[in-house]
Amino acid sequence: MFLFIRSLLKSPLAVGALVPSSPQLSRLIASQVCCGNSHVLEVGAGTGSITEALLNLGLPANRLFVIERDPSLVAHLYKRFPNIQVRCGDAEHAAAILCEEGISEVQTLISSLPISNLNGDNRIAILEGMMNALAVDGQLIQFTYTANCPFPAKRLGLHAERVGRVWMNIPPAVVWKFTRASYAL
Ligand SMILES: C[S@@+](CC[C@H](N)C(=O)[O-])C[C@H]1O[C@@H](n2cnc3c(N)ncnc32)[C@H](O)[C@@H]1O
Repeated sequence: MFLFIRSLLKSPLAVGALVPSSPQLSRLIASQVCCGNSHVLEVGAGTGSITEALLNLGLPANRLFVIERDPSLVAHLYKRFPNIQVRCGDAEHAAAILCEEGISEVQTLISSLPISNLNGDNRIAILEGMMNALAVDGQLIQFTYTANCPFPAKRLGLHAERVGRVWMNIPPAVVWKFTRASYAL
């Protein structure tokens, strides 16, 4: 918690939350993962609440890859989860970072990025960066603190599904799932 608050004070817009994701929000997100034998990528993992839920739900540690931009949170994640791969970097370059590690794509990408704090162009650039790391039939899970869909999904050729709202989170959050429209069920 101390680390989270320090990070929040350093870059409030980049952290975008007052406290780490709640266990309820983390569990709902982790329950959406379907990855077969593919890797799961988590971006903006922060203190690791969702990371922990993913491991608790049975995702093997060697199939979880994490990208976080704040070096002090990266150091914390290394220590807390010594068996997963954690890289310091920007989610916008997710595909290139994965490629350096010999991973060509992932089936599920979980984003804790404070996407609503970004302006339109930056939001689309980050979204494109994340989609580049996804398999064609992969899914992006993103939560927001506003009720509206965070991306103009239709215009971008995406299918958006509202997974649910979690009241037990500060603030309450809505979980979204995005797939490429051509592959949506
Ligand atoms: C809402 S907080 C993390 C919440 C996390 N689930 C938790 O419980 O701690 C958002 C995180 O995204 C990170 N972040 C923001 N922009 C990023 C980017 N472009 N690439 C990677 N990480 C980023 C921040 O450093 C912060 O740790």
